[in-house]
Amino acid sequence: MNDNSITILEGDCLALLKDVASDSIDFIFTSPPYADARKKIYGGVSPEKYVDWFLPISKELLRVLKPSGTFLLNIKEKVVDGERNTYVIDLIQSLRAQGFLWTEEFIWHKKNAFPGKWSNRFRDAWERLLQFNKQRQFAMYQDTVMIHRQESTARRCDQYDPQLRLQIKSQTGSNFSNNMSAWSGREMVYPSNVLYLAVETCNRRHCAVFPERLPRWFIKLFTQENDVVLDPFCGSGTTGVVCKRLGRRFLGMEIMPEYAALAKERIFSIEKKLLE
Ligand SMILES: C[S@@+](CC[C@H](N)C(=O)[O-])C[C@H]1O[C@@H](n2cnc3c(N)ncnc32)[C@H](O)[C@@H]1O
Repeated sequence: MNDNSITILEGDCLALLKDVASDSIDFIFTSPPYADARKKIYGGVSPEKYVDWFLPISKELLRVLKPSGTFLLNIKEKVVDGERNTYVIDLIQSLRAQGFLWTEEFIWHKKNAFPGKWSNRFRDAWERLLQFNKQRQFAMYQDTVMIHRQESTARRCDQYDPQLRLQIKSQTGSNFSNNMSAWSGREMVYPSNVLYLAVETCNRRHCAVFPERLPRWFIKLFTQENDVVLDPFCGSGTTGVVCKRLGRRFLGMEIMPEYAALAKERIFSIEKKLLE
């Protein structure tokens, strides 16, 4: 790929990945089909077969990812027969056995989820973002996602004198302690691993579009300009749109011709600009 290039390939990512060079991708961000949740629209795999279906693909992802790279998997288990199916948990175990480290889990809280009523559960308003790496040291640019301290946090931190380097014991009695005074007077702090983002409400001619802010946050955190980002299940191309805006190179793969065309249309019609 050339610098700043964007490539969308149409086809099954398992086959397409075979042509990608080993250790060539800086960051993989993807949201595959959630088992057979949208079977009628773009197919899917039953929860029982999901891990067996995914492992040959993830074997390729492990191969193409640079040693310093990160693989971020957006997924959520569905309810089958009145209980949460365990295919995501099984998948995590299998990815570890395959050679990935399960380094972190982020939660995307969908802050504008519609209300609803079910007899034995409440609205599903969050999804997992599972982080996998090849090694414990990986590229991460934490300062790019710093946030303004919330007023309540500021009040808690500022009551401690930075000179005293006071260790605050957890109120739960857990024996954990935190040097709160280190954050006294600071305007910017690091975020937590929970993201509060609205779901996509625009009609993008694809039923499972994630909001641009989701890949954007992770792409800023794990890549720099001109790094190569891969989305092997790119759908309408949201990850690619963000890469174009942020000046990252992008390789997208999509099995449905109409979605691959949509991804190209979206990505090539935007100008590189920041969301804010
Ligand atoms: C959850 S959607 C991704 C949506 C995307 N994040 C967006 O914002 O538009 C999953 C996509 O994977 C595609 N897909 C399913 N199996 C595939 C495969 N084997 N290879 C490539 N794409 C596949 C589906 O057609 C669907 O568009």
